[in-house]
Amino acid sequence: MGGGVGGGVGQDVADTRKRLTVTVNGRQCSLMVEPNRTLLEFLREDLGLTGAREACDTGGCGACTVLVDGRPVYSCLVLAVDCQGKDVLTIEGLAVDGRLHPLQQAFIDHGAVQCGFCTPGMILTAKALLDENPAPTDEEVREAIAGNICRCTGYVKIIEAIRAAGGTGKPACT
Ligand code: FES
Ligand code: FES
Repeated sequence: MGGGVGGGVGQDVADTRKRLTVTVNGRQCSLMVEPNRTLLEFLREDLGLTGAREACDTGGCGACTVLVDGRPVYSCLVLAVDCQGKDVLTIEGLAVDGRLHPLQQAFIDHGAVQCGFCTPGMILTAKALLDENPAPTDEEVREAIAGNICRCTGYVKIIEAIRAAGGTGKPACT
C-alpha cells in the first residue's frame, strides 16, 4: 500500500465546501456545498427539487428559471454559494395547501401546457412579472418571457394564460 501523501487520515484532500444557508420555498436549508456548484445542481441534486429543468446549461433556454429574492434567474448560471441568505422560490413552492397558484390554474385552463418542459420556468418568470405588473399587455408579457423558450405551444396560449392570471393574482401595492 503506497499510503497517501501527508500520512494522516483526511489530510490528503482539502475540503473546499462552504456552508450555504438559504431559504427555499419558505424553509431554511443549511448545507455544505462546493463553491462551483450551481444553484440548479443544488436544487435538483441536493434538495431533490427537480421542477427547475436542466436543458442547455448555458443560459439559453430559461427551463431552469427560479426566483431569487423575487427575481427570475437562470439557475444554471448562478452559483449556489451566491444565494447565501437569499430567498429562493421554485415551482414546488407555488401551490399552497394543495391549491394551485392562479398562474398554474390558468396554464391548465388555457391549454398553455403541452410537454410541460418549459412550464415551471415560464410560470415563475410570469409570477415575477405579475407581482410587479398585474395587468400586463401582450407585448409586456412577450418581453418578460423572451428568455423562456417553448418549443410546443407557439406562445399564444401562454400569453393568454398569464394575462388571465393577472386578474386573479395577488394585487400589487398601489
Ligand atoms: S438550462 Fe439554464 S438557461 Fe437553459
Ligand atoms: S410546453 Fe413543451 S416546451 Fe413548452
